[in-house]
Amino acid sequence: MSKFSQEHIALLSWYANVGRHDLPWRNTQDIYHIYLSEIMLQQTQVNRVRDEYYPKFLKRFPTMFSLANAQLDEVFSLWSGLGYYSRARNLHKTATIVKDALPLTQKELMKLPGIGKYTASAICSFGYKQNISVVDTNIARVLKRYFALINPKDKEVWEYATAFINAVDTRAHNFALMDLGSLVCLPKNPKCSECPLSKRCQAKDEPELYTQTKKKLYESLELFYAIMIKENKVALKISQDKLYKGMLVLPSVDPLEENFYREFRHSYTKYRLSVKLYKVDDLQEKQEELIWLDLDKLEDAPISSLTKKALL
Ligand code: ADE
Repeated sequence: MSKFSQEHIALLSWYANVGRHDLPWRNTQDIYHIYLSEIMLQQTQVNRVRDEYYPKFLKRFPTMFSLANAQLDEVFSLWSGLGYYSRARNLHKTATIVKDALPLTQKELMKLPGIGKYTASAICSFGYKQNISVVDTNIARVLKRYFALINPKDKEVWEYATAFINAVDTRAHNFALMDLGSLVCLPKNPKCSECPLSKRCQAKDEPELYTQTKKKLYESLELFYAIMIKENKVALKISQDKLYKGMLVLPSVDPLEENFYREFRHSYTKYRLSVKLYKVDDLQEKQEELIWLDLDKLEDAPISSLTKKALL
């Protein structure tokens, strides 16, 4: 019997009553669907993924094989507005590598582009039902508080997750910890009176002590883009920059006062962008590098929210 048996029972019974059982990726056996959900859920809210992006993506690419045969452009189109576009690029790359089925072990999964320890463990636990621990930010917060870990290294948190694992039903145990972190063990004002682990939680009296988060560091960036429109089509090019690599973007220009059109602000990942737009009739870019996009087709184009905002 595990020394955590009482906690395990309390946690699973809490999960049975309160857990988020309606999430579609928790109700499928399809490993590709589970993998896709985990990639989308990184840095994106559950509701946006569940209601919008996940169903739309799976409608177009229901299998790994269909994704492997897709053009990257179309993958970007379906990702448009989700941000962190390297996720889409890695997803597609992984599909082209494995073609049909993902590997079966955490170690092999972690060799694929865009699959780190969390995603590999999530696929193994949620998809393959392996007896393996999973640590995302929510689970980490629960564990840090429960075991009173002040500023631990990630490795240490993973070790505690493994020590705390429930071998009877690891999958439900991991979902339960995840939900506990997002519904009860909140970063601020945790609802300790509702927590099934509160009895032996070492942070009960000072939960804030265990969630000292690093201050978010934002970077300011100024961007200057050209808008050149001919016959209801706008000139775009494929970005080589880190920011939107591989996507269609407006061509950059040197700021010229006489062509100034308008400016706006935009947030993207850690960047606070100040975007200035210039209307031009000509570009330094080589003509063959320009891609002309019909302005009526902006909605489904492989472009970022920033580019859409600039063209509205
Ligand atoms: N269920 C499975 N994986 C999840 C995740 N990353 N976020 C929320 N719910 C999940």
